[in-house]
Amino acid sequence: MKQKIQEKFKALFGEEGVLYASAGRINLIGEHTDYNGGYVFPGAIDCGIMAAIKVNGTPKVKVFSLDYNESAEFGLNEEDVPEKQWARYIFGVCRETIKRGGKVEGFNAVFAGDVPLGAGLSSSAALESCFAFALNDIFGNGIDKFELAKIGQSTEHNYCGVKCGIMDQFASVFGKEGALIRLNCKTLEYKYFPFHPKGYKLVLIDSCVKHELASSAYNKRRASCENAAAAIRKNHPEVEFLSDAKRVWLDEVREQIPEEDFLRAEYVIGEVQRVLDVCDALERDDYETVGEMMYQTHFGLSRLYEVSCEELDFLNKLARKMDVTGSRVMGGGFGGCTINLVKEELYDGFIAAAKEQFAAKFGHAPKIYNVVISDGARKL
Ligand code: GLA
Repeated sequence: MKQKIQEKFKALFGEEGVLYASAGRINLIGEHTDYNGGYVFPGAIDCGIMAAIKVNGTPKVKVFSLDYNESAEFGLNEEDVPEKQWARYIFGVCRETIKRGGKVEGFNAVFAGDVPLGAGLSSSAALESCFAFALNDIFGNGIDKFELAKIGQSTEHNYCGVKCGIMDQFASVFGKEGALIRLNCKTLEYKYFPFHPKGYKLVLIDSCVKHELASSAYNKRRASCENAAAAIRKNHPEVEFLSDAKRVWLDEVREQIPEEDFLRAEYVIGEVQRVLDVCDALERDDYETVGEMMYQTHFGLSRLYEVSCEELDFLNKLARKMDVTGSRVMGGGFGGCTINLVKEELYDGFIAAAKEQFAAKFGHAPKIYNVVISDGARKL
Protein backbone atom coordinates (compact mmCIF):
# COMPACT_ATOMS: atom_id res chain seq x y z
CA MET A 1 0.00 0.00 0.00
CA LYS A 2 2.88 2.35 0.91
CA GLN A 3 4.37 2.04 -2.53
CA LYS A 4 1.09 2.56 -4.37
CA ILE A 5 0.37 5.69 -2.36
CA GLN A 6 3.81 7.18 -2.95
CA GLU A 7 3.71 6.35 -6.67
CA LYS A 8 0.40 8.14 -7.05
CA PHE A 9 1.63 11.06 -4.96
CA LYS A 10 4.66 11.40 -7.22
CA ALA A 11 2.55 11.17 -10.35
CA LEU A 12 0.17 13.88 -9.15
CA PHE A 13 2.48 16.21 -7.27
CA GLY A 14 5.99 15.44 -8.58
CA GLU A 15 7.58 14.41 -5.27
CA GLU A 16 6.98 12.04 -2.35
CA GLY A 17 4.84 12.80 0.68
CA VAL A 18 5.37 11.98 4.35
CA LEU A 19 3.54 8.80 5.36
CA TYR A 20 1.10 8.46 8.24
CA ALA A 21 -1.18 5.60 9.25
CA SER A 22 -4.05 4.89 11.54
CA ALA A 23 -6.23 1.93 12.44
CA GLY A 24 -9.76 0.59 12.51
CA ARG A 25 -10.95 -0.94 15.77
CA ILE A 26 -12.71 -3.82 17.44
CA ASN A 27 -14.55 -3.63 20.73
CA LEU A 28 -14.58 -6.67 23.01
CA ILE A 29 -17.48 -5.36 25.08
CA GLY A 30 -19.12 -2.04 26.07
CA GLU A 31 -21.38 -1.11 23.16
CA HIS A 32 -23.41 2.12 23.04
CA THR A 33 -21.99 2.99 26.45
CA ASP A 34 -19.56 5.70 25.30
CA TYR A 35 -22.09 8.51 24.76
CA ASN A 36 -23.68 7.45 28.05
CA GLY A 37 -20.50 8.14 30.04
CA GLY A 38 -19.86 4.41 30.60
CA TYR A 39 -16.97 2.05 29.89
CA VAL A 40 -15.80 0.69 26.55
CA PHE A 41 -13.11 -1.91 25.88
CA PRO A 42 -11.75 -1.49 22.33
CA GLY A 43 -8.44 -2.10 20.59
CA ALA A 44 -6.96 -0.93 17.29
CA ILE A 45 -6.55 -3.54 14.54
CA ASP A 46 -4.07 -4.27 11.80
CA CYS A 47 -6.08 -2.67 9.05
CA GLY A 48 -6.59 1.03 8.66
CA ILE A 49 -5.83 4.08 6.58
CA MET A 50 -2.49 5.21 5.19
CA ALA A 51 -1.81 8.67 3.75
CA ALA A 52 1.07 10.55 2.14
CA ILE A 53 0.87 14.25 2.87
CA LYS A 54 2.88 17.38 2.10
CA VAL A 55 2.26 21.11 2.53
CA ASN A 56 1.69 22.72 -0.90
CA GLY A 57 2.05 26.47 -0.22
CA THR A 58 -1.48 27.28 -1.50
CA PRO A 59 -4.72 27.94 0.43
CA LYS A 60 -6.17 24.68 -0.96
CA VAL A 61 -6.23 21.06 0.09
CA LYS A 62 -5.82 18.64 -2.81
CA VAL A 63 -6.60 15.01 -1.96
CA PHE A 64 -6.76 11.82 -3.96
CA SER A 65 -8.51 8.68 -2.72
CA LEU A 66 -6.94 5.58 -4.27
CA ASP A 67 -9.87 3.38 -3.27
CA TYR A 68 -12.50 5.60 -4.89
CA ASN A 69 -10.10 6.65 -7.65
CA GLU A 70 -11.38 10.20 -7.15
CA SER A 71 -9.88 13.53 -6.27
CA ALA A 72 -11.23 16.46 -4.27
CA GLU A 73 -10.06 20.01 -3.81
CA PHE A 74 -11.32 22.40 -1.15
CA GLY A 75 -10.45 25.55 0.77
CA LEU A 76 -10.19 25.74 4.52
CA ASN A 77 -13.07 28.07 5.36
CA GLU A 78 -16.37 26.85 6.79
CA GLU A 79 -18.21 27.49 3.52
CA ASP A 80 -15.75 25.36 1.52
CA VAL A 81 -17.30 22.06 2.63
CA PRO A 82 -16.85 19.54 -0.21
CA GLU A 83 -19.60 17.46 -1.81
CA LYS A 84 -18.01 14.04 -1.55
CA GLN A 85 -18.56 12.23 1.73
CA TRP A 86 -15.00 10.90 1.99
CA ALA A 87 -13.61 14.41 1.48
CA ARG A 88 -15.90 15.78 4.19
CA TYR A 89 -14.10 13.68 6.80
CA ILE A 90 -10.81 15.33 5.88
CA PHE A 91 -12.37 18.78 5.60
CA GLY A 92 -13.99 18.28 9.03
CA VAL A 93 -10.66 17.33 10.58
CA CYS A 94 -9.06 20.48 9.13
CA ARG A 95 -11.88 22.67 10.43
CA GLU A 96 -11.96 21.09 13.88
CA THR A 97 -8.19 21.51 14.17
CA ILE A 98 -8.51 25.19 13.25
CA LYS A 99 -11.39 25.65 15.71
CA ARG A 100 -9.06 24.40 18.44
CA GLY A 101 -6.51 27.06 17.59
CA GLY A 102 -4.35 24.78 15.45
CA LYS A 103 -2.70 25.89 12.24
CA VAL A 104 -3.70 24.19 8.98
CA GLU A 105 -2.58 25.41 5.55
CA GLY A 106 -3.04 23.95 2.08
CA PHE A 107 -1.60 20.47 1.55
CA ASN A 108 -1.53 17.63 -0.95
CA ALA A 109 -2.51 14.12 0.08
CA VAL A 110 -3.04 10.65 -1.35
CA PHE A 111 -4.63 7.99 0.84
CA ALA A 112 -5.86 4.42 0.77
CA GLY A 113 -7.31 1.99 3.26
CA ASP A 114 -7.96 -1.65 3.96
CA VAL A 115 -10.67 -1.38 6.63
CA PRO A 116 -13.79 -3.03 5.20
CA LEU A 117 -16.41 -0.28 4.72
CA GLY A 118 -19.70 -0.48 6.60
CA ALA A 119 -18.56 -3.52 8.59
CA GLY A 120 -18.58 -1.73 11.94
CA LEU A 121 -14.78 -1.50 12.10
CA SER A 122 -14.72 2.31 12.08
CA SER A 123 -13.14 3.06 8.76
CA SER A 124 -14.25 6.67 9.18
CA ALA A 125 -12.55 7.01 12.58
CA ALA A 126 -9.38 5.58 11.00
CA LEU A 127 -9.52 8.24 8.29
CA GLU A 128 -10.16 11.03 10.79
CA SER A 129 -7.42 10.02 13.19
CA CYS A 130 -4.90 9.53 10.40
CA PHE A 131 -5.40 13.12 9.22
CA ALA A 132 -5.82 14.58 12.72
CA PHE A 133 -2.53 13.00 13.78
CA ALA A 134 -0.74 13.96 10.56
CA LEU A 135 -1.86 17.62 10.54
CA ASN A 136 -0.90 17.96 14.19
CA ASP A 137 2.57 16.65 13.38
CA ILE A 138 3.11 18.56 10.14
CA PHE A 139 1.98 21.94 11.49
CA GLY A 140 3.51 21.40 14.93
CA ASN A 141 0.26 22.20 16.73
CA GLY A 142 1.02 20.23 19.89
CA ILE A 143 -2.60 19.14 20.34
CA ASP A 144 -2.79 16.27 22.87
CA LYS A 145 -3.99 12.78 21.95
CA PHE A 146 -7.42 13.04 23.56
CA GLU A 147 -8.08 16.26 21.70
CA LEU A 148 -7.01 14.53 18.44
CA ALA A 149 -9.64 11.86 19.12
CA LYS A 150 -12.20 14.61 19.80
CA ILE A 151 -11.34 16.28 16.50
CA GLY A 152 -12.48 13.07 14.79
CA GLN A 153 -15.60 12.81 16.94
CA SER A 154 -16.57 16.46 16.28
CA THR A 155 -16.04 15.84 12.58
CA GLU A 156 -18.73 13.14 12.75
CA HIS A 157 -21.06 15.42 14.74
CA ASN A 158 -20.61 18.60 12.74
CA TYR A 159 -19.87 17.45 9.19
CA CYS A 160 -21.31 13.92 8.89
CA GLY A 161 -24.50 13.98 10.97
CA VAL A 162 -23.60 11.14 13.38
CA LYS A 163 -23.80 11.98 17.09
CA CYS A 164 -21.24 9.30 17.96
CA GLY A 165 -19.35 8.78 21.21
CA ILE A 166 -15.58 8.88 21.61
CA MET A 167 -14.78 5.16 21.43
CA ASP A 168 -13.79 4.71 17.79
CA GLN A 169 -11.51 7.72 17.53
CA PHE A 170 -10.04 6.99 20.96
CA ALA A 171 -9.14 3.43 19.95
CA SER A 172 -7.77 4.60 16.64
CA VAL A 173 -5.48 7.18 18.29
CA PHE A 174 -4.49 5.30 21.49
CA GLY A 175 -4.35 1.73 20.11
CA LYS A 176 -1.36 -0.39 21.12
CA GLU A 177 -0.16 -3.72 19.74
CA GLY A 178 -1.45 -6.67 21.77
CA ALA A 179 -3.56 -4.60 24.15
CA LEU A 180 -7.20 -3.73 24.63
CA ILE A 181 -7.97 -0.44 26.35
CA ARG A 182 -10.64 0.06 28.96
CA LEU A 183 -11.81 3.66 28.79
CA ASN A 184 -14.09 5.40 31.25
CA CYS A 185 -15.87 7.73 28.82
CA LYS A 186 -16.93 10.09 31.60
CA THR A 187 -13.58 10.70 33.31
CA LEU A 188 -11.45 9.67 30.30
CA GLU A 189 -9.30 7.48 32.56
CA TYR A 190 -7.99 4.49 30.65
CA LYS A 191 -6.02 1.33 31.23
CA TYR A 192 -4.27 -1.04 28.79
CA PHE A 193 -5.01 -4.75 29.24
CA PRO A 194 -2.66 -7.16 27.43
CA PHE A 195 -4.91 -9.45 25.43
CA HIS A 196 -3.45 -12.82 24.38
CA PRO A 197 -6.22 -15.32 25.01
CA LYS A 198 -4.24 -18.58 24.98
CA GLY A 199 -6.09 -21.38 23.22
CA TYR A 200 -8.68 -19.03 21.71
CA LYS A 201 -9.10 -17.04 18.53
CA LEU A 202 -10.89 -13.76 18.06
CA VAL A 203 -12.67 -13.70 14.71
CA LEU A 204 -15.11 -11.34 13.06
CA ILE A 205 -17.85 -12.58 10.78
CA ASP A 206 -19.13 -9.88 8.48
CA SER A 207 -22.77 -10.29 7.48
CA CYS A 208 -22.09 -7.78 4.65
CA VAL A 209 -25.41 -6.19 5.53
CA LYS A 210 -25.50 -2.39 5.55
CA HIS A 211 -28.51 -0.42 6.63
CA GLU A 212 -29.13 2.91 4.99
CA LEU A 213 -30.82 4.52 7.96
CA ALA A 214 -28.14 3.48 10.44
CA SER A 215 -27.05 7.00 11.38
CA SER A 216 -30.55 8.34 12.07
CA ALA A 217 -31.39 5.18 14.06
CA TYR A 218 -28.13 5.66 15.98
CA ASN A 219 -28.98 9.26 16.84
CA LYS A 220 -32.43 8.10 17.95
CA ARG A 221 -30.90 5.59 20.39
CA ARG A 222 -28.79 8.35 21.83
CA ALA A 223 -31.83 10.60 22.29
CA SER A 224 -33.71 7.78 24.11
CA CYS A 225 -30.82 7.40 26.55
CA GLU A 226 -30.66 11.14 27.18
CA ASN A 227 -34.38 11.21 27.78
CA ALA A 228 -34.17 8.38 30.33
CA ALA A 229 -31.21 10.06 32.06
CA ALA A 230 -33.10 13.36 32.27
CA ALA A 231 -36.08 11.66 33.93
CA ILE A 232 -33.83 9.91 36.48
CA ARG A 233 -31.96 13.17 37.16
CA LYS A 234 -35.13 14.76 38.51
CA ASN A 235 -35.00 12.31 41.44
CA HIS A 236 -31.21 11.95 41.57
CA PRO A 237 -29.47 15.18 40.57
CA GLU A 238 -26.04 13.50 40.70
CA VAL A 239 -26.87 11.60 37.50
CA GLU A 240 -24.91 13.38 34.80
CA PHE A 241 -24.94 10.48 32.33
CA LEU A 242 -27.16 7.42 32.13
CA SER A 243 -24.20 5.30 33.27
CA ASP A 244 -24.35 7.06 36.67
CA ALA A 245 -27.82 5.64 37.32
CA LYS A 246 -28.60 2.57 39.40
CA ARG A 247 -31.00 0.06 37.93
CA VAL A 248 -33.60 0.75 40.66
CA TRP A 249 -33.53 4.45 39.79
CA LEU A 250 -34.56 3.55 36.27
CA ASP A 251 -37.47 1.51 37.62
CA GLU A 252 -38.67 4.60 39.49
CA VAL A 253 -39.29 6.47 36.23
CA ARG A 254 -40.65 3.60 34.16
CA GLU A 255 -44.15 5.10 33.93
CA GLN A 256 -42.82 8.56 33.04
CA ILE A 257 -40.86 7.66 29.90
CA PRO A 258 -41.77 5.79 26.72
CA GLU A 259 -41.32 2.03 27.15
CA GLU A 260 -38.83 2.10 24.29
CA ASP A 261 -36.58 4.53 26.19
CA PHE A 262 -36.86 2.34 29.28
CA LEU A 263 -35.64 -0.72 27.37
CA ARG A 264 -32.72 1.20 25.83
CA ALA A 265 -31.68 2.44 29.26
CA GLU A 266 -32.05 -1.01 30.79
CA TYR A 267 -29.56 -2.34 28.26
CA VAL A 268 -27.04 0.47 28.86
CA ILE A 269 -27.02 0.15 32.64
CA GLY A 270 -26.42 -3.61 32.34
CA GLU A 271 -23.71 -3.15 29.72
CA VAL A 272 -21.64 -0.75 31.80
CA GLN A 273 -21.40 -3.38 34.54
CA ARG A 274 -20.56 -6.13 32.02
CA VAL A 275 -17.42 -4.28 30.90
CA LEU A 276 -16.13 -4.25 34.48
CA ASP A 277 -17.02 -7.93 34.89
CA VAL A 278 -15.15 -8.81 31.70
CA CYS A 279 -12.03 -6.93 32.81
CA ASP A 280 -12.09 -8.77 36.16
CA ALA A 281 -12.55 -12.08 34.37
CA LEU A 282 -9.62 -11.33 32.05
CA GLU A 283 -7.34 -10.76 35.02
CA ARG A 284 -8.17 -14.35 36.10
CA ASP A 285 -7.79 -15.70 32.52
CA ASP A 286 -11.44 -16.69 32.82
CA TYR A 287 -12.49 -16.64 29.17
CA GLU A 288 -15.69 -18.57 29.79
CA THR A 289 -17.06 -15.61 31.78
CA VAL A 290 -15.84 -13.17 29.12
CA GLY A 291 -17.73 -15.20 26.52
CA GLU A 292 -20.91 -15.43 28.58
CA MET A 293 -20.93 -11.66 28.97
CA MET A 294 -20.59 -11.28 25.20
CA TYR A 295 -23.72 -13.41 24.71
CA GLN A 296 -25.56 -11.28 27.27
CA THR A 297 -24.53 -8.17 25.38
CA HIS A 298 -25.84 -9.64 22.16
CA PHE A 299 -29.17 -10.42 23.79
CA GLY A 300 -29.41 -6.82 25.04
CA LEU A 301 -28.38 -5.27 21.74
CA SER A 302 -30.86 -7.44 19.89
CA ARG A 303 -33.92 -7.36 22.17
CA LEU A 304 -33.61 -4.20 24.27
CA TYR A 305 -31.50 -1.82 22.20
CA GLU A 306 -32.75 -3.25 18.89
CA VAL A 307 -29.68 -2.64 16.79
CA SER A 308 -29.21 -6.22 15.56
CA CYS A 309 -30.78 -7.75 12.46
CA GLU A 310 -31.85 -11.17 11.24
CA GLU A 311 -28.46 -11.98 9.76
CA LEU A 312 -26.52 -11.09 12.92
CA ASP A 313 -28.96 -12.93 15.18
CA PHE A 314 -28.52 -15.97 12.94
CA LEU A 315 -24.73 -15.84 13.30
CA ASN A 316 -25.04 -15.42 17.05
CA LYS A 317 -27.39 -18.37 17.40
CA LEU A 318 -25.14 -20.55 15.29
CA ALA A 319 -22.18 -19.63 17.50
CA ARG A 320 -24.11 -20.68 20.59
CA LYS A 321 -25.11 -23.94 18.95
CA MET A 322 -21.50 -24.71 18.06
CA ASP A 323 -20.16 -24.05 21.57
CA VAL A 324 -18.35 -20.88 20.60
CA THR A 325 -17.23 -19.26 23.88
CA GLY A 326 -18.58 -15.75 23.16
CA SER A 327 -20.34 -14.02 20.28
CA ARG A 328 -22.16 -10.75 19.74
CA VAL A 329 -22.92 -8.00 17.26
CA MET A 330 -20.09 -5.45 17.34
CA GLY A 331 -20.05 -1.66 16.88
CA GLY A 332 -23.06 0.53 16.22
CA GLY A 333 -25.08 -2.36 14.77
CA PHE A 334 -27.73 -2.33 12.01
CA GLY A 335 -25.56 -4.76 10.05
CA GLY A 336 -21.82 -5.30 10.05
CA CYS A 337 -20.03 -8.01 12.03
CA THR A 338 -20.28 -10.34 14.95
CA ILE A 339 -17.18 -10.66 17.12
CA ASN A 340 -16.51 -14.21 18.28
CA LEU A 341 -14.22 -15.72 20.88
CA VAL A 342 -13.65 -19.30 19.74
CA LYS A 343 -11.60 -22.17 21.17
CA GLU A 344 -8.86 -23.00 18.69
CA GLU A 345 -10.03 -26.59 18.23
CA LEU A 346 -13.54 -25.42 17.31
CA TYR A 347 -12.44 -22.66 14.96
CA ASP A 348 -12.33 -24.49 11.61
CA GLY A 349 -15.66 -26.22 12.14
CA PHE A 350 -17.36 -23.01 13.21
CA ILE A 351 -16.08 -20.96 10.29
CA ALA A 352 -17.02 -23.66 7.76
CA ALA A 353 -20.53 -23.95 9.23
CA ALA A 354 -20.99 -20.17 9.38
CA LYS A 355 -20.01 -19.77 5.72
CA GLU A 356 -22.15 -22.62 4.50
CA GLN A 357 -25.28 -22.10 6.58
CA PHE A 358 -25.28 -18.32 6.25
CA ALA A 359 -24.95 -18.55 2.46
CA ALA A 360 -27.70 -21.18 2.27
CA LYS A 361 -30.07 -18.92 4.21
CA PHE A 362 -29.21 -15.45 2.94
CA GLY A 363 -27.86 -16.12 -0.55
CA HIS A 364 -24.43 -14.57 -0.01
CA ALA A 365 -21.35 -15.67 1.91
CA PRO A 366 -20.21 -13.78 5.01
CA LYS A 367 -16.64 -12.49 5.17
CA ILE A 368 -14.20 -13.68 7.81
CA TYR A 369 -11.60 -11.40 9.43
CA ASN A 370 -9.01 -12.69 11.86
CA VAL A 371 -8.18 -9.94 14.27
CA VAL A 372 -4.70 -8.77 15.22
CA ILE A 373 -4.61 -6.07 17.89
CA SER A 374 -2.22 -3.39 16.66
CA ASP A 375 -0.93 0.17 17.01
CA GLY A 376 -3.08 3.23 16.39
CA ALA A 377 -2.25 6.56 14.69
CA ARG A 378 1.46 7.04 13.86
CA LYS A 379 4.02 8.47 11.51
CA LEU A 380 5.64 5.76 9.40
C1 GLA B 1 -20.34 3.54 16.71
C2 GLA B 1 -19.99 4.89 17.32
C3 GLA B 1 -19.30 4.73 18.68
C4 GLA B 1 -20.09 3.80 19.60
C5 GLA B 1 -20.49 2.53 18.86
C6 GLA B 1 -21.40 1.65 19.69
O1 GLA B 1 -19.18 2.84 16.39
O2 GLA B 1 -19.15 5.61 16.47
O3 GLA B 1 -19.10 5.98 19.28
O4 GLA B 1 -21.21 4.45 20.13
O5 GLA B 1 -21.12 2.79 17.63
O6 GLA B 1 -20.76 1.20 20.81
